[in-house]
Amino acid sequence: MKMLKILLLSILTLVGVNLTWRCLSRKRSLPCPTWLAGILEMDRIDAFLGTEATLDRIGMKPGQKVLEIGPGPGRLLIPAARRVQPGGEVFGLDIQPGMLARLNARAVQAGVSNLTSVLGNASQSQFPPESFDVIFLVTVLGEIPDREDTLRQCHSTLKPSGLLSVTEIFPDPHYQSRTTVRRLAEAVGFRLKKMHGPLYFFTANFLKYSH
Ligand SMILES: C[S@@+](CC[C@H](N)C(=O)[O-])C[C@H]1O[C@@H](n2cnc3c(N)ncnc32)[C@H](O)[C@@H]1O
Repeated sequence: MKMLKILLLSILTLVGVNLTWRCLSRKRSLPCPTWLAGILEMDRIDAFLGTEATLDRIGMKPGQKVLEIGPGPGRLLIPAARRVQPGGEVFGLDIQPGMLARLNARAVQAGVSNLTSVLGNASQSQFPPESFDVIFLVTVLGEIPDREDTLRQCHSTLKPSGLLSVTEIFPDPHYQSRTTVRRLAEAVGFRLKKMHGPLYFFTANFLKYSH
């Protein structure tokens, strides 16, 4: 009985922390702390979070110039760098220097040389217009208070007919529903190309639509 109470209390605390974090993130930037990067670097995490499946859905090609917003320690960006070879390059834009330090160290360790890390806020202009073939975000959009501004920046920095890809995984505390992602992306000029996967792990691919 005591064990059951402890279990219930732990679950309630976890849910409470998640909901509070989610609500506060609407108003100010409270990104995933750098000390949690260790979880995203664990050996088994790729199978658990579907890293290769996500990259397959995004469908980047050799020679392309690709940006990941919020790459953290590079769970997706390091294998993405290999997928755009030969001739392609990838960029990772993250708001936390600690995450970029982990990303750079892991890229060196993996022997990846076509990866550039950039420190900055995705809701502000960081790159010249029409720079990228593909921009992707995985479990990041809900962490950014200015989601509309961020997607507007994506629209501007994508080449004409470039691809925006947004992946959300439940129960990430900042999980965004398919409907929300679609509404936000369409409001700034994207058109849905394809929705992949179930509600708890979906990837929404959009094409840049110039008026
Ligand atoms: C939950 S981690 C996801 C990491 C990676 N996409 C993955 O799925 O393994 C979210 C990342 O987004 C970054 N981030 C949060 N807000 C950001 C913003 N406004 N601009 C750029 N990066 C941001 C955080 O620093 C963190 O590295």
